[in-house]
Amino acid sequence: MNKFGGIWTFEKIRILEKYAKAYLEIMKDRPYWKLIYFDGFAGSGDIEVDGVMDDNIIHGAAKKIVSIQEPRLFDIYYFVELNKKKADSLKVTLDQVRKSGVFVVSEDCNKKLIDLANFLSINGKTYKALAFVDPCGMEVNWNSVARLKNMPVDLWILVPTGLGPNRMLTRNGEIPDSWFSKLEKFFGISKELIMSTFYTKLETIDLFGEKRIEVLKNTKAIEKIKQLYTNKIKEVFKFVSNPYELENSTHCIMYHFFLASNNKTAVTIANDIIRKTKNEKYGTNFN
Ligand SMILES: C[S@@+](CC[C@H](N)C(=O)[O-])C[C@H]1O[C@@H](n2cnc3c(N)ncnc32)[C@H](O)[C@@H]1O
Repeated sequence: MNKFGGIWTFEKIRILEKYAKAYLEIMKDRPYWKLIYFDGFAGSGDIEVDGVMDDNIIHGAAKKIVSIQEPRLFDIYYFVELNKKKADSLKVTLDQVRKSGVFVVSEDCNKKLIDLANFLSINGKTYKALAFVDPCGMEVNWNSVARLKNMPVDLWILVPTGLGPNRMLTRNGEIPDSWFSKLEKFFGISKELIMSTFYTKLETIDLFGEKRIEVLKNTKAIEKIKQLYTNKIKEVFKFVSNPYELENSTHCIMYHFFLASNNKTAVTIANDIIRKTKNEKYGTNFN
């Protein structure tokens, strides 16, 4: 079983499930579209979450989506889980709900996102996809997301704004090469652009008149990471929803979760779901 997360795991899955139902409601009147549900980080079926909830075991997103019966089904459910044991366990779990049209593969999500893009570039007049990309950390390479440009995909993506990238962007800007290459792969931008986005150079003169360059990390790094990633996503998709912030128990932001789509209505629906979920969490005056 997957063991991670807290209340945010539950919130994220609820947002996705509500969106999938709204998506299928619209698509029930468009039977000529064949629908793919693609989950790039599918997990093992159930999740053990920390504290706060009555029941610490919750159904993972895969089980929730495959269990939706009405108003219509997806034609293909495609689940990607790198860990073979988890993929096998997920297959057993999902088999109990539905067998036909359900595929579980044990591979890297990056490869499968590219396969999805290739498939849609040939079959995009017949197929539409709803994709859910739910990594723990920085596993998603920007290049794989970029391949979805102009594709009929609605993409829900979890971006670990408060985790890996924020930690790798050290306070003094001294970043090991291996971290730089990870950051470059993740953001899809060069080392130089990473430095100029997240750091300020301060020139100071010391006691003996010598010039010193001090490198300072931007104080609002998480916000900057969100903004940078959102801007990158807007290079691929026409519309991006407002983000849902996933916080830990001490209210530190861990992730931003949002929908990217080439369809304006899709993003309007996502924004509505996100607003309502925030209202449920923080009270009805929250916008
Ligand atoms: C946050 S969990 C996903 C939880 C899942 N969405 C659910 O609702 O239960 C991330 C999962 O991705 C898997 N994983 C890690 N790296 C991966 C990769 N490169 N490609 C596919 N799966 C990966 C991990 O084994 C882990 O089960």
